[in-house]
Amino acid sequence: MPVPSNAPDGGRGGGPPRYSTVRHPLFARFYARLSRVSDTRAGVGEHRDELLAGLSGRVLELGAGNGLNFARYPHTVSEVVAIEPEPHMRRLAAEEAVQAGVPVDVVPGTAEALPVKSESFDAAVCALVLCSVGDVRRALSELHRVLRPGGELRFYEHGVAEGRPVMSAVQRGLDRTVWPRLFGGCHTARAPLSEIRGAGFEVSGFRRVLVPARGPALPYSFHVLGSARRG
Ligand SMILES: C[S@@+](CC[C@H](N)C(=O)[O-])C[C@H]1O[C@@H](n2cnc3c(N)ncnc32)[C@H](O)[C@@H]1O
Repeated sequence: MPVPSNAPDGGRGGGPPRYSTVRHPLFARFYARLSRVSDTRAGVGEHRDELLAGLSGRVLELGAGNGLNFARYPHTVSEVVAIEPEPHMRRLAAEEAVQAGVPVDVVPGTAEALPVKSESFDAAVCALVLCSVGDVRRALSELHRVLRPGGELRFYEHGVAEGRPVMSAVQRGLDRTVWPRLFGGCHTARAPLSEIRGAGFEVSGFRRVLVPARGPALPYSFHVLGSARRG
């Protein structure tokens, strides 16, 4: 069970709450529409299925957005605790949770101070969220904390265009200027795979995917889909 979000210490023991609300009301409404189109027309729905295949036990989903993963969890999952800090996104996620085939609890909180107990999850899921969190290292250290030893981190993230210097320069320029302001704090030039390794996870397998698969590559096209284990 997640610790209630209004617990005085966010469930972590001592001190004031360490999570806060993220507010991107315009982006949340825009993303709610765009994400459904991307799922059906850009192949993202199939990537979500691959991301979640074979999961079992208790799962923590980070930055669940409008909850598009929920209906895709396999029945071997006993419970999903879905953390989402943005109020509009969270309302949409709660509606999706009702229709999911597995129990899903949508909980306010941020990646940097997860309101759940240590070593209490069999798996964690990050989908298109490490680009947006305020502190990637802190977020991954929190995921490491809440996973049981040997627990699995599944990730589907976009990041820097490796081996493409012009595109990666464009990405870095966008990240310094308009992109995070327009797209809910998103950054295009982060390096999710190295961040995951740097946080002490052992990457078991991954593949790089372009989204959309056809047409010119865009600053957010460079995705990595894979899994890692907590040692
Ligand atoms: C691009 S959306 C992705 C939503 C969803 N994971 C999906 O696959 O469609 C990024 C999400 O990360 C959430 N987010 C932003 N900052 C966060 C933080 N510090 N902790 C947790 N989630 C955060 C946003 O509210 C938003 O729901």
